[in-house]
Amino acid sequence: MERVETLVAEMTLAEKIGQLNMVASTGVVTGPSGSRATHQGIRAGTIGGLFNLWGADEVRAVQRIAVEESRLGVPLLLGLDVIHGHRTIFPVPLAEACAFDVGLWERTARAAAEEAAADGIAMTFAPMIDVARDPRWGRIVESPGEDPWVASELAAAKTRGFQGGDLAAADSVAATAKHLCAYGAVTAGREYASVDVSERTLREIYLPPFSAAVAAGTAAIMPAFIDIAGVPMTINPTLLKGWLRERVGFDGVLISDYNAVAELINHGVAADSVEAAALALNAGVDIDMTSNTYTQGLPAALDRGLVTMADIEASVRRVLRLKERLGLFADPYRRGSAAPDDRDGKSRRLLAREAARRAIVLLTHRCPILPLSPNTRRIAVVGPLATAREEMLGSWASAGRPADVVSILEGLKAAMPDCRIDDARGVDIDGEDERGVAVAIDLCAHAEIIVLCLGESAAMSGEAASRTNLGLPGRQRALAEAVLGLGKPTVVLLSSGRPLALSWLFERADAVLATWFLGIESGHAIADVLTGKFNPSGRLPLSWLRSVGQAPIYFSQRPTGRPTTPGVHYSSSYLDMLSTPQFPFGHGLSYSRFVLSNLRCEPAVVKAGEEVQVSLEVRNDGPIGGEVTLFLFVRDLVASVARPVLELKGVRKLTLGADENRQATWRLPAQALAFIGENLEPVLEAGRFEIHVGQTADPAGFLTGVIELAT
Ligand code: BGC
Repeated sequence: MERVETLVAEMTLAEKIGQLNMVASTGVVTGPSGSRATHQGIRAGTIGGLFNLWGADEVRAVQRIAVEESRLGVPLLLGLDVIHGHRTIFPVPLAEACAFDVGLWERTARAAAEEAAADGIAMTFAPMIDVARDPRWGRIVESPGEDPWVASELAAAKTRGFQGGDLAAADSVAATAKHLCAYGAVTAGREYASVDVSERTLREIYLPPFSAAVAAGTAAIMPAFIDIAGVPMTINPTLLKGWLRERVGFDGVLISDYNAVAELINHGVAADSVEAAALALNAGVDIDMTSNTYTQGLPAALDRGLVTMADIEASVRRVLRLKERLGLFADPYRRGSAAPDDRDGKSRRLLAREAARRAIVLLTHRCPILPLSPNTRRIAVVGPLATAREEMLGSWASAGRPADVVSILEGLKAAMPDCRIDDARGVDIDGEDERGVAVAIDLCAHAEIIVLCLGESAAMSGEAASRTNLGLPGRQRALAEAVLGLGKPTVVLLSSGRPLALSWLFERADAVLATWFLGIESGHAIADVLTGKFNPSGRLPLSWLRSVGQAPIYFSQRPTGRPTTPGVHYSSSYLDMLSTPQFPFGHGLSYSRFVLSNLRCEPAVVKAGEEVQVSLEVRNDGPIGGEVTLFLFVRDLVASVARPVLELKGVRKLTLGADENRQATWRLPAQALAFIGENLEPVLEAGRFEIHVGQTADPAGFLTGVIELAT
């Protein structure tokens, strides 16, 4: 603290603003190229942070200039988007969410932090904890899916994983929870578009994951690019100051999104960079990422009385305190000095394989062709994703390399050395060329089993990758129809960053697996599931739509006065499509079959401060051991504000051997039944609540009990 105060007292205005200026190194560019790092700027103290530069030597070189050649020697803050792994690339976040495994989420973040820190990185722009319910929006791939409870669990796990026990440790990086908030609700799923959601929806859906990140100690938070009802999040004092800082007590660093401060002019809320800088600073945004607007605008804003020196200094203090917490003053070179323990990367590869296979969701299994028989002698692996190593890295590859990836074809070949495996591309991921289909069909005609590898390219999801057509791109459908037309046993592997609307495929293929983008161990993980070495356990963290016309779709709908009733015209439904999803939230098949029974909720009447014990029996009826995932939902039957038909309150995973019976239990505190009342404050109202436990959000599979909350 003393150091921070001394520095603030010694700094010139330009040096103060320099601490608030983070610029891009050459490398990944996700927007208009703003200011770039120059050695001269670092030396002059007008650049306080750098991102998109990694590598121990590269980082040391720039850090040395800051520490040894700038007047005050303040070290640089080095940031990077370490989203789903650094060198070891894990499954994309949406895929990893399918594991519903807090421990796994934490472990992959820890491994990523260790690798990134060894490359000199002190801050990651992750986790992304935007609840996402509209698959047109490409960034759904980076999200934890549709549910705020899941997003909150993930926020806490990732924050713990990235930051470790001690932020100053050489292998810890500062987490940045992003993007505050409601970015997933962009109009019509179109990237960067305006958002208009109610205060209630913010409090119920979009803000809780950020409270969870703050409770877990996140060092930084990034406001979203978007505006909510006309107020860009970059300058939203009600949420950034009132809610985040004052109410939730966040005292860390707010860092703008890429160029977002300059974009306030495009939003139409600032006339020039002076106004833009003043608005963002006054809303509490400490660091201007790459737009150079603080550097250009704050001096004039100060002259014009639009900002105060005290506010500039408050932001400088927060940035310096973060540098201090990261141990950068004590040893600016500590990150990047030691290689991570796992030099050959073996244990990280194992973790990548574990994460990847736990992310795979067996969507359909119409004919029992899985696991593949060990006696299979000839397989045709067909489709544009079969050998696509680079695509398997997904949307944020950081330091990942295609050469590190095990492709689907390679994984299968390694797992089935005695089986002849031929491959053909058939068609490209996108494009109109169908000339390869005939070759692929010829190959399939000679095979016992066909593994059809379809989907999107990695670049079709992620930032600036909204789509209105959620079918297979290019001529892949033609390839698939030709293959399915052979009537041979066919397994489809679907690589994508979002759910795809493919009812026709789900009806025809013998089995379909969502394999997303699984990272460097893609091929091995997929082979583990196909051969039965690993019994699939992934579950969908979102409702998988049938048609793009259903978007946004999610299970926690509010009841309507005219509930969906098949055959009833004046009910909440579509004329041309069911209103239920293709696959409900939580869906995911296994080679085992689990049967639930005997739900108990005790006591039946609870008061505030008490707990309900929810328990049930689970039996594995299948032929092999497997993992079941159970979801606990509640429904508040009558309340002063209509409550959703289902709210997720807990998840349990149990591993059961064949024929094994076990009990699952939850302790549900009465407080978990509170909701945001009419006056937008949390309230606990007496009344009856249904407790549902199921393997998905489909009510058809629920066991149901009722409890009463008494005053
Ligand atoms: C993205 C952020 C990311 C930043 C830095 C932006 O375009 O929205 O999620 O952290 O770029 O790369």
